Amino acid sequence: SRSLRVALLGCGVVGSAVARLLTEHADDMRARVGAPLEIVGIAVRRAGRDRSATGVDAALFTTDADDLVTRADVVVEVIGGIEPARSLILRAMEHGASVVTANKALLAEDGPTLYAAAARHGVDLYYEAAVAGAIPLLRPLRESLAGDEVHQVLGIVNGTTNYVLDKMDRTGASFADALEQAQALGYAEADPTADVEGFDAAAKAAILASLAFHSRVAGKDVHREGITDVTAADVAAAREMDSVIKLLAICERLDGGISVRVHPAMIPRSHPLAGVGDAYNAVFVEADAAGQLMFYGRGAGGDPTASAVLGDIVAVAQHRVAGGLGPGESSYADLPVRPMGDA
Ligand code: HSE
Repeated sequence: SRSLRVALLGCGVVGSAVARLLTEHADDMRARVGAPLEIVGIAVRRAGRDRSATGVDAALFTTDADDLVTRADVVVEVIGGIEPARSLILRAMEHGASVVTANKALLAEDGPTLYAAAARHGVDLYYEAAVAGAIPLLRPLRESLAGDEVHQVLGIVNGTTNYVLDKMDRTGASFADALEQAQALGYAEADPTADVEGFDAAAKAAILASLAFHSRVAGKDVHREGITDVTAADVAAAREMDSVIKLLAICERLDGGISVRVHPAMIPRSHPLAGVGDAYNAVFVEADAAGQLMFYGRGAGGDPTASAVLGDIVAVAQHRVAGGLGPGESSYADLPVRPMGDA
């Protein structure tokens, strides 16, 4: 059968891992999809930069993303941020490509526009990598729990801040030193403000709440407080009380509404979330019939995030081969998002 053309937008920490793993896992993925996957190009912002360390075939790089997205069956967007990512995704869909994205900021700001475009053009939109990196979490919420009623989603969804808080707790490191290490390990966003001010976690909370409660929650609806005010003294004080400080995302179904918030919280060391170290993420889900579920794994970094991207590529490629589509946006209810005080 003819090969499926895959275009990559972005070749940073995640993009280069996706490109490398697509090559390394080519035979397995071909077997699962029923057709070979061929990378037709990788869009980068600047030409001529030395990318030899990524191990990616230099002939694939192009600065013409507008053209590239018109020549693919599957477009993988790992640039991040609102523009040009949004325009490129919409252009890709207009030209009939299915889209896999890891872009939580864009989904939280303008998800409904992307869903509508995907429906209009009859293409898939998959984004498992946008929340909690490698952890299969969005498909379970969207598909496995579709017949249940989710009451609560609660957890640690930002690897950078978890790394920072864990490092401060274990070694007494300063906030700045711990953050520098998280950046060096490739966990942080291009602008780490999004991590430490809680914007990244808020975007993920909005996506989780939207899927869990079949509603539309935007990043701006999320009450947000980051960790920039957490000092070494605060961490030490928590330690004295046999507790740790974690940045939590909390999504709750209330009577006739929902509450979504992100803020640092002190939790006892005996709590399962207290033991989540490094850049790991962990998310509790509580549903009516299922009861309590817990998801745990690597929430940031190139390979873990790429794993989720590859799974999405296989899913949308399978749909292409079979001539169908996976789930789009389920019908949603306009649940009011309550401010903090109402919770
Ligand atoms: N900067 C994000 C984090 C990357 O630290 O969790 C994964 O979304």
